[in-house]
Amino acid sequence: MKIQFLIFLSLAALAYGKSQCVQSESHESEQSENLHVGNQKPLSIEELNLDTIIQTALNATHLYNLQDNSTKNYYKLVCIKSGTSQLVAGVIYRLNVTLQKTECLKSDLFGENLESGDDSGLLSMRSLDNIENCKLSTETQDIVLKVLSTPWKKVFYQLV
Ligand SMILES: *[C@@H]1O[C@H](CO)[C@@H](O)[C@H](O)[C@H]1NC(C)=O
Ligand SMILES: *[C@@H]1O[C@H](CO)[C@@H](O)[C@H](O)[C@H]1NC(C)=O
Ligand SMILES: *[C@@H]1O[C@H](CO)[C@@H](O)[C@H](O)[C@H]1NC(C)=O
Repeated sequence: MKIQFLIFLSLAALAYGKSQCVQSESHESEQSENLHVGNQKPLSIEELNLDTIIQTALNATHLYNLQDNSTKNYYKLVCIKSGTSQLVAGVIYRLNVTLQKTECLKSDLFGENLESGDDSGLLSMRSLDNIENCKLSTETQDIVLKVLSTPWKKVFYQLV
């Protein structure tokens, strides 16, 4: 039992690069003294590890890859370091993430016409598996993904 648990933990660590992933609660001071609708709210470390946030970050990373044409290689999400949420018509998440360059080409993963993406712009679990199998290069980049989540719309996630 104990060994299985450890194996599960180390797999989870590999999947999200938790080994080098230092998470912290955002110190977003801007307007944080009154948490009204429309203000940015820091995400706790617990919240950073919720499925909704991980799915949002994975999908936003995917959109970032489709939009960024400065490299042909796919950059995978390895760490969600901190972030905030803001209620608007939907929720705007600002996520401080680390991405790591893979040796997989975006065109090999998603075809020549990247604009169309796959699954109407959403990142499927099958595609995520393919990305997990990509060899990693040593190059990383730290960026802020600013993503609008509107689950009731056809366009679920948008980078803003
Ligand atoms: C992308 O977002 C959709 C909708 O929230 C979700 O079903 C899917 O699992 C997400 N993709 C990943 C890889 O988490
Ligand atoms: C990248 O995309 C931008 C806008 O989408 C475009 O103006 C630019 O020419 C593209 N660069 C390359 C190298 O394709
Ligand atoms: C992102 O990280 C920087 C540096 O740690 C921090 O100043 C900023 O508040 C963070 N932003 C969010 C949205 O968490």
